[in-house]
Parts: sequence; structure tokens; C-alpha cells
Amino acid sequence: MEKQYILALDQGTTSSRAMVIDGAGNVVSIRQRPFKQIFPKPGWVEHSPTEIWSSQSGVATEALAAADLTERDIAAIGITNQRETTVLWDRETGEPVHNAIVWQDRRTAEFCDGLRNHGDAPMIQAKTGLLPDAYFSGSKLNWLLNNVPGARERAAAGKLAFGTVDSWLIWKLTHGERHVTDATNASRTMLFNIHTLEWDEELLKLLDIPRSVLPEVVASSGHCGTTKGILHGISIAGIAGDQQAALFGQMCTEPGMAKCTFGTGSFMLMNTGTKSMSSQNKLLTTIAWKIGDTVEYALEGSMLMAGAVVQWLRDELQMIRTSAEIEALAASVSSTNGVVLVPAFAGLGAPHWDQYARGALLGMTRGTSRAHIARAALEGIALQAMDVLEAMQTDSGLPLAQLRVDGGASANNLLMQIQSDVLGIDVVRPKNAEATVLGAAYLAGLAVGYWPNKETIARQWQMDHVFKPQIDDAARHKVKATWHRALDRARDWAGE
Ligand code: G3P
Repeated sequence: MEKQYILALDQGTTSSRAMVIDGAGNVVSIRQRPFKQIFPKPGWVEHSPTEIWSSQSGVATEALAAADLTERDIAAIGITNQRETTVLWDRETGEPVHNAIVWQDRRTAEFCDGLRNHGDAPMIQAKTGLLPDAYFSGSKLNWLLNNVPGARERAAAGKLAFGTVDSWLIWKLTHGERHVTDATNASRTMLFNIHTLEWDEELLKLLDIPRSVLPEVVASSGHCGTTKGILHGISIAGIAGDQQAALFGQMCTEPGMAKCTFGTGSFMLMNTGTKSMSSQNKLLTTIAWKIGDTVEYALEGSMLMAGAVVQWLRDELQMIRTSAEIEALAASVSSTNGVVLVPAFAGLGAPHWDQYARGALLGMTRGTSRAHIARAALEGIALQAMDVLEAMQTDSGLPLAQLRVDGGASANNLLMQIQSDVLGIDVVRPKNAEATVLGAAYLAGLAVGYWPNKETIARQWQMDHVFKPQIDDAARHKVKATWHRALDRARDWAGE
């Protein structure tokens, strides 16, 4: 019997998801399981690699069962994952030596300050496309090797394996047969040269990382292993970091096409084709995907808080009961009445990169209501993206005609309208906003001939709604000026 489906695994920051996708790109079944967020100290964020695996393998089997399918019906598995999160495990026992250090974790901020102060930033940016920051895996791996008792010695003896979450899952799925990562995930480690496509000797020295722990780097689309055990005998044929997968799932496959995914944070990526563009405006240059021998690149603006701001209003301030409620609350007023919320709760990402900035709520008066604050929260999410878009257009010289959007918060019509207003361009939402999962499925399906080519896939992309700017340039400039005044107050707040 012909294999009729693709299984896509999406290992995200707060939950593991699995979806069965059919040839038309429809989601046949979906299962999702949240897992524990561990905060050992302020600014530290960890996950249990064992729980990452158990939740991910659990939802994978459940998604198959829900669609009444078995391994035999699956043509290939595509994997997409929270990026940068760092796992170190023992090659013999398969046991993690420590919890995974999550991308949001700031414990190595000072170490990264040191790299910058030492003048290493230009070399790091030239080779990796990244700016030295605790966000990326390299300094996290350095921390693990230095702080887990015996880890350095075991690594030197070739006994330990490092990987981002994709590597860890593939290791588990293949019973330790394959220790690989793909080029997109490798490009987030600060150890990988995105031009030569190799682990970089100078960076490995600088961060004191022994080569023996590193995975083999493979294409984002291509057979790279066969599952053993619970999901037996399926080809693993697609791997991409979640933001790159979303860029592919949104079919932003031509230079100048861009998407923004609204998840925990929001991540705007613009395809720049086979040429890597170095940013003059503090964006990241990253590998979009490697298909066959062709590498395409993207410019990325990573904004650290988006949906998480809404969660904060819900969980900490208890201003709303569900995240969806924010839309009606914010829409109950026609403006924020001068209130500005700067979502710098975890510092500021692109294009400011201020790890000492903190969240700020400014401009309140006696008449400020919940609704004004809710609206200011949505505006704050959208306004960060305005700064990123401006940097992207300046860097690339490519004027953006439209921005494709996806992710949970893209369902919020008011947020999307505000986004279009402040950007001054069309914001386009596809019918299937599961771009991340679709991207992983497409990369895997292309590799095994499930879909013959990109063109066939591109035809599956369908528009749901276009949000057109409804404010004029003068109004936009005013909003922008107020936003930048507020940003100035929030910057360097937690600095010395
Ligand atoms: O760089 C971090 C990003 O990959 C996390 O994405 O969707 O898991 O919050 P998400």
C-alpha cells in the first residue's frame, strides 16, 4: 500500500506537538502535550530532556492512533524544534548529564559580555551571522562542560554528545544510531560557520568546546536516519529550527518574502536567497534551509516576548481568564489613551539587543483601565516588529510589500490590524496558520518524493485574510515617536 501521510513533530518551548499531514497539506490529526518549565534561579530556564522525549514520543503515537494509522502509513517524519536549547548526554547510557538549558536562559550573559568586551563580536558575526549573546547554544554548552562535575573529562574522552533538541530527538528515535543536526539548527549554536558550512575551529577554541561532542550536520531535507522502537522503520527526512520551518511552511521561498510567527516570542524572517546578507542593524543572518546542496539564507529579527506578554496579563495580573479574551478587552477602547507597554521582560531582542532592559508600563493616568493596558500590550507586541521590519528593509535593500503571519497570536484580528497599521504594509494570514509544522512536513515530504517539488507545495498556500493599514503616515510617525521615547526609558533598566 502506498504511504499516505507525513508525521510532523514540533518540539516547542512550552509543549510538544505531533501532527499527521496529508498530501493536500491538511492536518489529519494533532496531539499536544505541555511539559514542565523549570526556573532554578531568576533568569535561568531549563527543561528535562527526558520529559521532552516522553512528551514528544507520546504525542507522536497518539496522533497516529487518533487518525487510526500505523507506522506503515507514514512516508516520512519531519522534525522542527525550539532552537538553541542545549542538551548534553552520555553516548553510552543515553542519559542527559543535566537539564537542557533553554534559549531564554540568561545565565551566560556575563560570559557573552566578556566576548563582546574582548572585541570578538565582529569575528563571530562574520562567521556565524549571530551577535554574541546568551541566547545561542555555544555559551550554554560551555557552561555545561564547566559546571557539570566530570563533564569536561568525559567529553575529552569522547563519551558525551551535544545537540539542540532536534539532535536529541533523532538520537532517541534511532536508538543512538544517529547523532545529527541540520544546517538551520547548527546556525544557531554560535559554533558553526554559515559560509563554509562547518563547525569552526576558531570558535570552538574561543568557547572551549571539544569537537568530539558535536553532531554531524546534514541537510534540512533529506533522509538522515530510520526510526527504531516505538515508531519503527520510518525515514526521518526533514529537520529545521521552528522559525526556519515556518518560513518554509509559509512558502517564503523567494528573496524578499518575509513572515512573522507570533509564539512565545515573535520571530520575523526574510528570505535573502542563496546570498547571506550581513546585518548592519543588529539583525541575525541565519540559514533558512539546506535542500540538496543548495543553501538559502534569511535575515532574522528575534523578539523575545510576544504571546508571553498576554500570558503574563492572564497568569500574573489575572486581567483576563484566557489569552483569547484579550482581543475583546482591547477592542473595547479605541486607543490606549497614552499608555505604552514595552515588553522588555526578558531584555530586548532585535534590533536593540539590550539584555538589561526591563518591561515598562508608562503614561498611565487616573482614567487608565484594564482595557487600555490590554490594548497597550497588543501595541507593544506589534511595535517591536516595526523596528525589526525597518532594520530588515535597510539591511536588505528589499522593500517589503507584505508580511505573512502565523502562530497562535496571529488569530487575534485586532493584533494583526495594529500590526498592519504600524508597519504600513499588508499583513497576510494564511488559512492554515500551522506554518511551523507544515514546513517540517514539507521538508520531509520533498526528500522522499511525497511531493514532487516546491511548486506543488506552493500551490497549497491559501490566504485567509489580508489586513490593510488603516492609519496614515502622520499617525504612524506619532505612534513611533512615542514608542521610541518609552523604549528609551526601559533600556538598560537593570544595568549597573
Ligand atoms: O529561537 C527560539 C525559538 O525557536 C522558539 O520558538 O515557538 O518554541 O517559542 P517557540
